[in-house]
Amino acid sequence: MRQLTGRVAVVTGAASGIGRALAGRFAAEGMRCVLADIEEDALSAAVGELRSAGTPVIGVRTDVASAADVQALADATIAEFGAVHVLCNNAGVGGGTDFARIPLDTWEWVLGVNLWGVIHGCRTFLPLLVGQDEAHIVNTSSMAALNGHPLGLAPYTVSKFGVLGLSQNLFFELTATTGGRVGVSVLIPGLTRTRIFESTRNRPAGVTEPPASSFANTSRAMIAGAWDEAMQPSLVADVVADAIREQRFYVLPCADEAYDMAQQQLRWMRTNEPLVPGPGVARTADAAGS
Ligand SMILES: NC(=O)c1ccc[n+]([C@@H]2O[C@H](COP(=O)([O-])OP(=O)(O)OC[C@H]3O[C@@H](n4cnc5c(N)ncnc54)[C@H](O)[C@@H]3O)[C@@H](O)[C@H]2O)c1
Repeated sequence: MRQLTGRVAVVTGAASGIGRALAGRFAAEGMRCVLADIEEDALSAAVGELRSAGTPVIGVRTDVASAADVQALADATIAEFGAVHVLCNNAGVGGGTDFARIPLDTWEWVLGVNLWGVIHGCRTFLPLLVGQDEAHIVNTSSMAALNGHPLGLAPYTVSKFGVLGLSQNLFFELTATTGGRVGVSVLIPGLTRTRIFESTRNRPAGVTEPPASSFANTSRAMIAGAWDEAMQPSLVADVVADAIREQRFYVLPCADEAYDMAQQQLRWMRTNEPLVPGPGVARTADAAGS
C-alpha cells in the first residue's frame, strides 16, 4: 500500500503485546483503527488510550476462533468507518505438553485461535478488502514455522506452519487475481517482550490444563536467559508498517535469525543434519538439560 494515512486498520489481539503496538503505530500513521480482542478490560484500556490521543478508534470484543464473532467484527468496522484497508490477523496463544499427552481440547483451543482465527479473518474480510483501491493483510506466524520448535508446544508450532502456508497460498492467489492490489504479508517475530507466555489467562473455562511437558523447566530457563535481549513490540510494529508500504511478503523483525533457520532447513534437506534453533528455545528435556 502506498498510503496509510486516513485508511482503516483492523487488528486482532490488539489489547496486548504486538497487536497493541501495531494499533499504536497505525494510529501514529493517522489511520482509523478497529481493535479486536477477547480480553474486554484490556481492550477498553487500549481503546481509551488511543482515543484520548485523538485517534478515531473502536474496540470490538472478539473471539477470533468464532466465525460469528469475526463476522460481527467486520460488520462493526463497516458500520463505523465504511471500509477496511489493513487487516492484521495477530491474536495468538500458546499451549501444549509432550505430544502423546496433549489433551484434545488443547489442540482445539490453540488451533482455534491461531489458525482458525486467521482463516476466519481472511475469509470474512477478503470481499471487503478486494473492494478497496489498495489493501493489505498481515498474518502473524512465528519463528516456530521456520524451526519446528518450541518443544512441548506442538499445537502452537502446527498452527504457525499453517499460518505460513495459508499466507503463501493467499499471496499467490491475490497476486494472480488482483495484481498485488491486495497485498499479503506473513509476520515472523523472534522473541518479543509480550504476555505470550501468560496465554493461559485466555484459556476458555472447561478446557483442560495439560500436564507440564518434559521441557517445561528447560524452556522457562532458556526464555528467561534470552528475555533481556527480546525485542520490544514497538520495533516489530515499525517493521510491519514498512513491510506494508514496501509490499514485502516476509516480515522479519529478527531477520538474521530467520535467515539462519532457512539456511539450516536447506542444509537439513541436503545433508540430513537437523537444524539447531536460536536463543530461547529448549532442545533438551528437563532431566538432561536443567
Ligand atoms: N511474543 C513473542 O515472542 C512472539 C513470537 C512469535 C510470534 N508471536 C505471535 O504474536 C502474536 C501476538 O502475541 P503477543 O506476543 O503479542 O502476546 P500477548 O499475549 O501479549 O497478546 C496476544 C493477544 O491476543 C489476545 N487473544 C487471545 N486469545 C484470543 C481470542 N480467542 N480472540 C481474540 N483475541 C485473543 C490476547 O487477549 C492478547 O491481547 C501471537 O500470534 C503470537 O503467537 C509472538
